[in-house]
Amino acid sequence: MLEELNQIEQAALASLDTAQDEAALQRWKVAHLGRSSPLMLTFDKLGSLAKEERPAIGRRANQVKQALEAAFAAHSAALEQAAITRALGAERLDVTLPGRPVLLGRLHPTNCTLRRIYAIFAEMGFQVYRSREVETDEYNFQLLNFPPHHPAREMQDSYYIDSGTARGDNPLLLRTHTSPGQIHAMRQMVALNPQDPPPVRIILPGMCFRYEQITARSEMQFNQVEGLAVGKDITFGDLKGTLSDFARRLFGQQVRSRFRASHFPFTEPSAEMDIECFVCGGAGCPVCKRTGWLEILGCGMVHPIVLRNGGYDPLRYTGYAFGMGPERITMLLHRIEDIRYFWANDLRFLEQF
Ligand code: DAH
Repeated sequence: MLEELNQIEQAALASLDTAQDEAALQRWKVAHLGRSSPLMLTFDKLGSLAKEERPAIGRRANQVKQALEAAFAAHSAALEQAAITRALGAERLDVTLPGRPVLLGRLHPTNCTLRRIYAIFAEMGFQVYRSREVETDEYNFQLLNFPPHHPAREMQDSYYIDSGTARGDNPLLLRTHTSPGQIHAMRQMVALNPQDPPPVRIILPGMCFRYEQITARSEMQFNQVEGLAVGKDITFGDLKGTLSDFARRLFGQQVRSRFRASHFPFTEPSAEMDIECFVCGGAGCPVCKRTGWLEILGCGMVHPIVLRNGGYDPLRYTGYAFGMGPERITMLLHRIEDIRYFWANDLRFLEQF
């Protein structure tokens, strides 16, 4: 009987080495440790043995069982380890490969300029006022002293949103300039204190739209930064001082500026502001078209009709306003020769800022 147990043990251990996968391992377990395996049948036979044989055979049978269980556990762990090693070998991960770079976005060149403009005017006490991009004809033109059919509208061919007949003389359109925000802002201030409305000192940035032939110099969508100061005793001197200082802060302390008479329906008097060409220092070059000067904005004293439309009594209040194109200013600052780059989404352009 003891000899038989030795054989059972040897045979089982020998065949364990041939089990090379999980299924074979399970078959081995059933064959050698299962209920009807030779070993288990030996336990069944213990009862029928002579009393004095029983302890020795029983002990040996238990030893064999433990030995087989231990061998099974060790072999099964070894198989598992081998499987992991094989998988690691097959799915090799090279941690020395460089990672995929995460592309960093950056500010659009117009936004870089806008931020500089905001910072300069913030230091001078101007707040940013945002106004809608869809306007009525009334706000975009009429309240700014452009009557219907006024020829000054010719300069601002518009994208109308409704046909114009549904709303009579007041069709909806995409704003052609940021100036209608002047009326919104003044009316909001007047609502705070109708008898004695507070002074206004704001800049109004935002997108404008015109039905333009797209060329190197004109786009159908562009930004403007409007400015408005309304209060008591504001003079043309304040306008000149503020805007000349703005130009020095943006273009350099040595930059000189000049004001030329012009016309806008919503200002009187009106002017165009030029700065001395910072490329040639005023001597004349291709950037300034040999004039020595670069036009940067339009401005003027707020027209009394516009003050009244905003709710400010033109006999007690005066004010000045200005409007500039940050894309145009960016073009001057960086000598960009074609405004179409701004909306072309070309990374070769955008990545330079
Ligand atoms: N709204 C004018 C335009 O788009 C620009 C402008 C000129 C705005 C003079 C002003 C101003 O506030 O005073 O052509």
